[in-house]
Amino acid sequence: MKFSTKQIHAGREKNISLYGDVNIPIHQSTSFVHDSVDQYLEKGFSYSRTSNPTIELLEERLKQLEEGSGALCFSTGMAAIHSVFDGILKTGDHVIISDVVYGGTYRISKAIFAKYDIEFSFIDTSKSEDIKKAIRPNTKIIFTETPANPTLKIYDLKLISDISKNHQILHVVDNTFMTPYLQNPLSLGADIVIHSTTKFFDGHNMTTGGCAVFSDKETFERIKFIRNTSGNIMSPFTAFLTLQGLKTLSLRLERQCLTAHLIAEHLNNHKVIERVFYPGLEDFPGHQISCNQSRDHGSLLAFIVKGDLNTGKKFADNLKLCLLAENLGSVETLVTHPASMTHGYLTQDERQSIGITDSLIRMSVGIEDPEDLLNDIEQSLASLHG
Ligand SMILES: Cc1ncc(COP(=O)(O)O)c(C=O)c1O
Repeated sequence: MKFSTKQIHAGREKNISLYGDVNIPIHQSTSFVHDSVDQYLEKGFSYSRTSNPTIELLEERLKQLEEGSGALCFSTGMAAIHSVFDGILKTGDHVIISDVVYGGTYRISKAIFAKYDIEFSFIDTSKSEDIKKAIRPNTKIIFTETPANPTLKIYDLKLISDISKNHQILHVVDNTFMTPYLQNPLSLGADIVIHSTTKFFDGHNMTTGGCAVFSDKETFERIKFIRNTSGNIMSPFTAFLTLQGLKTLSLRLERQCLTAHLIAEHLNNHKVIERVFYPGLEDFPGHQISCNQSRDHGSLLAFIVKGDLNTGKKFADNLKLCLLAENLGSVETLVTHPASMTHGYLTQDERQSIGITDSLIRMSVGIEDPEDLLNDIEQSLASLHG
């Protein structure tokens, strides 16, 4: 099956309804009855902290879409990252993380795992020499996110996977911004792919969820044990809604990528815009790598409005159609002001060093009419000088 068929049908035989429902029911049950003690687990399920039929169908579908050997769903994207770190790292280990990643990934490293004497190096993983220099005998994970939140910095997945393999380090990729429709890190050599399903898989601002997809069964089993022990599995209702959102993923993304490209071109060379960040622009650093490793350049862009912190805030506040809301990947166009919102945990110096300036705006383009979106952006830009 091709992607757009798989997103609707993959794993459908796991829909174990008596009535042949087209949509798998929400199996809203903590426990599953066993016919006898000797037949314990014969039907595959016992307790919904461990597994549940609705969640398992979503996992099967995500596994097939990412071409992995196993997938696990979690209560949020951060829960997925937490469980992967928890299952792989021990005291004294070292992790390399790209210098530009989602703010929550900094926070979980510095505020939670660092207290177990696990060390984190945030480095420019677009430079292979820097990665090689940063590797230590105790390095266990190289964690990348590409394009990165919020400046869309691109990292070469194949190159980093090759370096990781040569040093027996796991390459973990946060593929939230691209989804398997646009990019398949496992096929480029990565070991684990992470998603916040809150974003494109849901696509409608309804649920928070996460998943991890594994290239090998052994790591999958290890993280499944962590999830069962710590209890951060997705809920059946979230899995049900995510399965419905997933059915239109490729259609939404095709439209979203087209409109994002259009807006990026429009803002590039605009007199009140200092800089546009979009991997589809030919002069964007990493454009060629994006062409090589991704089917399209995604639906996120960022731009610096000429001015200071207040100009950035005012631009975001004065939008009427685009919503000022902390999410991405949905049918609605959403904007954030990273310095105040998603990356507020970083210090001003840390933000400046990775290009998150005070008037940077991140935009996640939805499926509205492109002309309406451009009009909204223009009216807000015009209001800055009014
Ligand atoms: C790239 C990326 N990874 C992970 C997360 C965390 O996901 P969640 O909010 O579902 O915990 C986010 C959230 O914005 C994100 O943008």
